[in-house]
Amino acid sequence: MNAFPLSRPARIAVFASGRGSNLQSIIDAFPVGHDLATVALVISNKENAGALKKAAAGHIPARYIPFGRDREAFEREAITEIEAAGIDLICLAGFMRVLSASFVKRFAGRIINIHPSLLPAFPGLDAQGQALRAGVTESGCTVHFVDAGVDSGPVILQRSVPVYPEDDAELLAARILQEEHVAYPQAIRDVLTAKVSFAQAAEVTK
Ligand code: GRF
Repeated sequence: MNAFPLSRPARIAVFASGRGSNLQSIIDAFPVGHDLATVALVISNKENAGALKKAAAGHIPARYIPFGRDREAFEREAITEIEAAGIDLICLAGFMRVLSASFVKRFAGRIINIHPSLLPAFPGLDAQGQALRAGVTESGCTVHFVDAGVDSGPVILQRSVPVYPEDDAELLAARILQEEHVAYPQAIRDVLTAKVSFAQAAEVTK
């Protein structure tokens, strides 16, 4: 993998476990022929993930790789696919598994994630429910570089939304998701144009 900015469109891999609306926002932001990036590979650990259907609809190479108890096997196969596809940047978009420290290290500065809260608040599962239970009046989403922790890496960008007293987790999730679809493509632009690097983001996040 090369340092950003590249002198050609970057090849992106998206890892997704679910419906794939963030994947779709990335596909839409970087359509075939875009000069900054192209989505060259989609990997899902769920055979019936909506993300795989969206990849197929966009004519993007997609692989189902099971992620059972054997994380090593998943990662070995994923690395083979990533190398074969000449991937420059890995985007985790609703990927519901934790990658190993050695996988993350291998792609340091080249692997990013989106999370539906204003990190460091509410990492982990059910971020929207956590925000409601905490009684905050503002939440949002964060795109960050991935490090060995869970939702803990240096922040690339955040977008916030209000939280209303009548919100339930579903309403709040939908409001945040709209911002995610803006945030993820913007964060990818920032990384690929070298506006933000892992080292710079780590300095600011400290
Ligand atoms: C998003 O809320 C994302 O922040 C979280 O999982 C959800 C995935 O949604 N990590 P989608 O599959 O991209 O629609």
